[in-house]
Amino acid sequence: MEPLLLTHCGAGSDRSVQDAAEAAGRRGLDVLRRSGRALRGVVEAVAALEDDPRLNAGTGSRMRIDGRIQMDAALMDGDLEAGAVAAIERVRNPVRVAWDVLSTPHILLVGPDAQAFARAHGHADYDPATPESRKKLEDSLRRIREGRVPRYYRKFNGLDLHGTVGAVARDRRGRFAAGVSTGGTSFMLPGRVGDSAILGSGIYAGPHGAVCATGIGEEIMKRVLSKYVYDQVAAGRSPQAAADRGVALFPRDVSVGVIVVGRRGWGEACDADMAYFASARGRTL
Ligand code: GLY
Repeated sequence: MEPLLLTHCGAGSDRSVQDAAEAAGRRGLDVLRRSGRALRGVVEAVAALEDDPRLNAGTGSRMRIDGRIQMDAALMDGDLEAGAVAAIERVRNPVRVAWDVLSTPHILLVGPDAQAFARAHGHADYDPATPESRKKLEDSLRRIREGRVPRYYRKFNGLDLHGTVGAVARDRRGRFAAGVSTGGTSFMLPGRVGDSAILGSGIYAGPHGAVCATGIGEEIMKRVLSKYVYDQVAAGRSPQAAADRGVALFPRDVSVGVIVVGRRGWGEACDADMAYFASARGRTL
């Protein structure tokens, strides 16, 4: 089976970061081809996206309203092995910490204990803040002071509310994996955890395929989007039809996107109003 890997830069991402989706896709596909493992390709693709300061994951993540950065990330493969971290601070690559969690008996570690776990596994202290993330926080705080906070889950006149990065892959042996990482959304309370760290919501993988979602986490969790899309693929729908059905679960004014890989190829969909969805897949890398 031909190896296949898809990446995305998040709901709301535009053409200015298309190069990030492609570079991460090339890196992931290269590792996938060399290592032969879907999971390894996904980890490297997501880590590359986390390292791009333009994207809302790892370096450049959104700040909570108290100025802290708390990140969520998760991995899952076709054998239902999974690892995730939520509200983790001061690490460079949350997805690599999630990978370490995957080799424990647990699935999800959170907050300061996730950070302590990361340190114990060699992840150095790292400040993911950038001048741009500080500017975005100042903008959010100004809007809060002016009483211009959007209804949390709605699109808001081009306001950059979200953005999550992710990848899905299928390797030569037909094994699947999904990975996701995010700094969350704007206007976030400390301690808030979105869909990305929650299996079935932000990602899902199994013997039939792999799915990664992006968009407003609260809305995605309510609909358990990734498992819904996975179940469509498992029932025999094409990955594209499954992605379209997943996005159709949401009202038009909720930003959401999804990428999918299955035995019958790949699919991707985003809500109709989204101007662009920066994503890349095997054949365009
Ligand atoms: N989809 C990322 C989040 O809402 O946290």
